[in-house]
Amino acid sequence: MNAMFLLLCLAFALLPANLPADTCLNCHGNPLERAADSALDDCFQLWLDSPHSLAGLSCVHCHGGDPAAEAMNLAHQPPGDEEMLWSTRKQRINATCGGCHEEIFLAFEESEHDQLLKSSGQEEERPTCITCHGGMAAGRIPSSEVAALCLPCHAPQEGQTESLPEKAERLLERMELLGRLHRLIALKGSDRQCTHLRAKLVPRINQLLLDWHKLELEKVDVHSGALLVELSAMRDELSKQFQGKLPVPN
Ligand code: HEC
Ligand code: HEC
Ligand code: HEC
Ligand code: HEC
Ligand code: HEC
Repeated sequence: MNAMFLLLCLAFALLPANLPADTCLNCHGNPLERAADSALDDCFQLWLDSPHSLAGLSCVHCHGGDPAAEAMNLAHQPPGDEEMLWSTRKQRINATCGGCHEEIFLAFEESEHDQLLKSSGQEEERPTCITCHGGMAAGRIPSSEVAALCLPCHAPQEGQTESLPEKAERLLERMELLGRLHRLIALKGSDRQCTHLRAKLVPRINQLLLDWHKLELEKVDVHSGALLVELSAMRDELSKQFQGKLPVPN
């Protein structure tokens, strides 16, 4: 087996197995192409590590083009017949992500925050999906990074006990904890707890995510606080059942 063939096999062995056959990936994931252009290689790597590659989504799902065409000029035929970065430009990126994350997109676009920035001529500065999530890498944001995203426009005021960026960070920490409690109870909870979780709590957790994307921090504060009380009580009940043998998050 020659070395180049081995290299190719290795590279494709690293691709998630659930991906469709697709000329974008054949070319952009090809080790020769990657070695020839480090910027393109970086892009490919970002995508490879993202939740989207894990979910079986390829380049074409955000950039458009023809994923059956072998030649670059034919594959590169994006919507609007413009250039390959057309659908990921600032003016269109929310709609591109929103094509799949529709509820969050609508919450975000209809939010007071977004409307206000648009109507005050701050269209260019307004946060978009990728301000917070990143573009190619789009993924979860650790709570420790969220304050920095708000800081440029929300500098702490003198005499404030909690600045807006600090508040965003605190709430996000709480949402992360809610996520951990949610998973714990879904995995280990009794039938009664799981039924209650699915029927009563999950819809409220989903609503919390929408309120977060509207940047309605007051609402998020109140509702996440109430959910935390309920989920913590369920955790304590579980913990008693397991007599402390369960690693339970606090
Ligand atoms: C035959 C190889 C080949 C195929 C097939 C291919 N690409 Fe590319 N692509 C390239 C090369 C080389 C570049 C960098 C040179 C350029 O921009 O023309 C590039 C650039 C890009 C860029 C950046 C454009 C810019 O303006 O910076 C995007 C986005 C892109 N490709 C997406 C795709 C998508 C989506 C597909 C599949 C529908 C695809 N490519 C298929 C080789 C290919
Ligand atoms: C989840 C959507 C999404 C997917 C999937 C995706 N991209 Fe992108 N891509 C973006 C966004 C958004 C930008 C522009 C913003 C940025 O700089 O991150 C971008 C920018 C690029 C750029 C230009 C980078 C630059 O620095 O100018 C290239 C090249 C590119 N993508 C190639 C690809 C290739 C190749 C794939 C598949 C392996 C792919 N993209 C998959 C969303 C995506
Ligand atoms: C073609 C459909 C599609 C497009 C376009 C798309 N996504 Fe996704 N996204 C998915 C799927 C499928 C998943 C994985 C399942 C899930 O977590 O919902 C996902 C997951 C995510 C996650 C959650 C990650 C996690 O760990 O739970 C975030 C955040 C995200 N996408 C943001 C974005 C952003 C930002 C864009 C635009 C740059 C975008 N998505 C474009 C379909 C899409
Ligand atoms: C102000 C920052 C910010 C903006 C702007 C933003 N998000 Fe989020 N998003 C978050 C945070 C924080 C979370 C919760 C933590 C996490 O999952 O990363 C989140 C969670 C998500 C999730 C995961 C949902 C789940 O089931 O866990 C998706 C999908 C998502 N956002 C998509 C989008 C899309 C699409 C846009 C643009 C319309 C967008 N986000 C704009 C901060 C933002
Ligand atoms: C591009 C600038 C910009 C960014 C980035 C930005 N905002 Fe704002 N935000 C504004 C403007 C402008 C207003 C309305 C005027 C005001 O109250 O300061 C506002 C108002 C708000 C309000 C309501 C008013 C208040 O002070 O209580 C909240 C809540 C808010 N933003 C949250 C956030 C959060 C959380 C982030 C970061 C994830 C963020 N914003 C990022 C520009 C921005």
